Amino acid sequence: MEENKKKVLSCIQPSGMLTLGNYIGALKNWVAMQSEFDCTYAVADLHAITVRQEPAKFRQQIYSTAALLLALGIDPEKNTMFIQSHVSSHSELAWILSCYTQFGELSRMTQFKDKSAKHADNVNVGLFSYPVLMAADILLYQSDLVPVGADQKQHLEIARDIATRFNHIYGDVFTIPEPYIPKIGARVMSLQDPTKKMSKSDENINSWVAILDSKDDIIRKFKRAVTDSDNRICVGEDKPGVSNLIGIYSAVTGKSAEVITAEFEGKGYGDFKIAVGEAVAEELKPIQERYQTFISDKKQLEDIYRQGDEKAFYAARKTLSKVKKKVGFVL
Ligand code: TRP
Repeated sequence: MEENKKKVLSCIQPSGMLTLGNYIGALKNWVAMQSEFDCTYAVADLHAITVRQEPAKFRQQIYSTAALLLALGIDPEKNTMFIQSHVSSHSELAWILSCYTQFGELSRMTQFKDKSAKHADNVNVGLFSYPVLMAADILLYQSDLVPVGADQKQHLEIARDIATRFNHIYGDVFTIPEPYIPKIGARVMSLQDPTKKMSKSDENINSWVAILDSKDDIIRKFKRAVTDSDNRICVGEDKPGVSNLIGIYSAVTGKSAEVITAEFEGKGYGDFKIAVGEAVAEELKPIQERYQTFISDKKQLEDIYRQGDEKAFYAARKTLSKVKKKVGFVL
C-alpha cells in the first residue's frame, strides 16, 4: 500500500447472480482501478439482509461473490478484499453516524421509497438506515473515491453530508469522498427491453446475462436480443436495442462505436448479435474458469478473505477509535 495513492472503496451485495451489467458497469472497472489506486472492496452482506434472504442460499452467494471477485482479477495482495460483516467496525460506526443523520434526509432517499414500495410487507428499519451503513463503509477507510452508478449517487451524497456535518462539529475526522465516474463501462440495458436497466430480478431470463452463464446460453440470449427494423448497426437515440449491443461489444472488445459500425457495414443484425454473444462469451470464459478454481477450494478462499478481513479491520479500527474519542466515549 503506497501512501500517495488515492483510496478507493466499493462494495457489492451478495444478493444473487451477478450479471453482465454488474461486470461492465462496475466490476470490470474495479479491476482496472487497482493499478492506479489503493483499493478496498467488500462483499456487503450486511446490506443484503435488508431484504429477506434464505440462509443456505445466502451463504453460498457470499462465497460465490468473493470467489468471483478473485476470478475477475481483484488482487488481494495489492488491495483489500473482505467480507463486511467480519469487520464489526461497520456496524459500530453505522450506529454512531445514525445519531448524526436526520430522519428527514433518509426519508427522501429515492431507493428507500422504491424498495419500500417493492417490499411493502417488510419495510424494516435497516432498509431505512441503509445509507448510514453505506456511509460507514466509505468513511471508515478514509476513502477519496467511490465508483458509483447512478442508482447509488444519492447515497454517496448523503455520506458526504454526514461526514461534513461530523467534521464541522469535531474537526477533521473523515475524508470527504468524491464520486468516481468510470472511464469504461456503459450502463447495460435489458436485452428484451432496452429502455430498462439489465437486472437479475427481471422475470424474463432472456433479458439478462449472468457472468457465469454458459457460452450457449449467452449466445442464445444475444440472438434473441430486441433490436429494431431498420437493420443499421449504429448508435442512435431511436435505436436503444442496437445502441445497447454496441455498448456491450465496445466494452468487451475495447473498440469504439465508430470502429464497430465500420466493421459491420453491410452486415445484418443476425451476424452482429452472434458476434456480440461470442465476444462476451470469450471475455467471460477465463473468468469462469478461474471462478471454478476459487469456489472449489473453500479453504483457500477462506484464507484469502480472512487476510482481507484483518487488513480491513486494522484500517477501520483506526478511524473508529478516533470517532469514539471525538464523541467523548471513555476508551
Ligand atoms: N449499496 C451498494 C449497492 O447496492 C453496495 C454498497 C454497500 C456500496 N456499501 C457501499 C457501494 C459502499 C459503494 C460504497 O450497489
